[in-house]
Amino acid sequence: MNKVRIIGTGSYVPEKIVTNEELSCIVDTSDEWISSRTGIRERRISEGEDTSHMASKAALKAIENAGVKAEDIDLIILATATPDSFIPSTACIVQDNIKAINATCFDISAACSGFVYGIDIATQFIRTGSVKTALVIGAETLSKVLNWKDRNTCVLFGDGASAAVLKESDVEGILSIYRGSDGSKGKFLTCNAVPVKNPYIDSKETMGDIDNAITMDGKEIFKFGVKIIVQGVEELLKDTTYSLKDIKYIVPHQANFRIIESAAKRLGVSEEKFYLNLDKFGNTSAASVGIALDDMVQKNLLQSGDKILLIGFGGGLTYGGLIVEW
Ligand code: COA
Repeated sequence: MNKVRIIGTGSYVPEKIVTNEELSCIVDTSDEWISSRTGIRERRISEGEDTSHMASKAALKAIENAGVKAEDIDLIILATATPDSFIPSTACIVQDNIKAINATCFDISAACSGFVYGIDIATQFIRTGSVKTALVIGAETLSKVLNWKDRNTCVLFGDGASAAVLKESDVEGILSIYRGSDGSKGKFLTCNAVPVKNPYIDSKETMGDIDNAITMDGKEIFKFGVKIIVQGVEELLKDTTYSLKDIKYIVPHQANFRIIESAAKRLGVSEEKFYLNLDKFGNTSAASVGIALDDMVQKNLLQSGDKILLIGFGGGLTYGGLIVEW
C-alpha cells in the first residue's frame, strides 16, 4: 500500500459578514440566544457566488500551498450538499475553472461529514496506486437552501469552501480512519431535491412550489454529534498506539460550541484541545472541518510530526474521522 500525506490546504469565504444582530432584524432572534446556545457570532453569506466559485478559489490556494501544478492533480473529489447544478457536477466545473485537465472529477454527498469522507476516499485511491495526487474540496452555499423565516435553522449556517491536496508519500500521514452512516436517522436533518414529477404521473404538476429548505430536529442532531465525537475519538485511537495526550488538536465539524463542551466533558479533556472557529463562520457543512484546518495552518499552529484528529458528523446521518500526522 502506498503512503499518503496532506501537502497543502486552502479556504475561501465570501466577503459579506452577517452578525447575529443583523439576523435579528430579519427573524425573531437575538445575539444573546444564538451565541449562548451555539457559540456562533457571525457567518459569511454569499452575495451571488455559487459553490463552484468558492470551491475554485479554495482549490487554487491549496494547490499553491502544496507546491504542485493544477495539471498534476489526478482526482478531484468535491463534497457538497449545495451543488451549482445536478449536471455537470461541481467538481467538473471546478476542474474547468482551475484547468486541472488531467483529473477525474466527481461530487460526493455526505453533508457535514463531506470533507472527512473526501479525504478518506482520496486516501484509498492513493493507497492502491490508482492516483498519485488528489484534490479534496468541501464547499457549500447553504444560504440558498435556508428558510430565512425559520429561526431554528437560518441562524446556524454559513457559506464557504475549503480544500486539501493529498499526495503519495514516503511517510504515512493518515494514521487512522473511522467512518459510518445511519440512514434510519436521515429524517432529523433534511433538504429536499426535486420531487418525482413527470407527465406520466400528473401532467398538471408544476415545478414552482418545491420546498427545498433545510429542516432539522436540533435536539436529535445535538445528541448524535456528541455521541459521534466521543465514539469517533475512541475508535480512531484504538487503531493506533497513541492516546489522546499525543493528539495536539481535535478539529471537529464546527456545528455548535455546546456539542463540543459536552463531548470534551465525556472524553475528560479540556475544550482547549478542540480547534474552533465557528464563532466567525457558523456551520459551513462540508466546508467546516477544512476551513478550520486551513485556519490552523495559516496561524502556524501545526508543525511537522504533529498529530491531529479530524471528526465530522451530519445529515444522512453520516460520520467520519481521521488521525492525521502533519
Ligand atoms: N432565536 C430565538 N429563539 C429560538 C431560536 C432562535 N434562533 N431558535 C429556536 N428558538 C426557540 C424555539 O422556538 C423554542 O421555543 P419554544 O420553547 O417557545 O418552542 C426554543 O428556542 C428552543 O430552545 P431550546 O430547547 O433551549 O433549544 P436547544 O437548547 O435545543 O437549542 C439548537 C437549539 C438548535 C441550538 C440545538 O438543538 C442544537 O445546536 N442542535 C444541533 C444543531 C446542529 O448543530 N445542526 C447541524 C449539525 S450538522
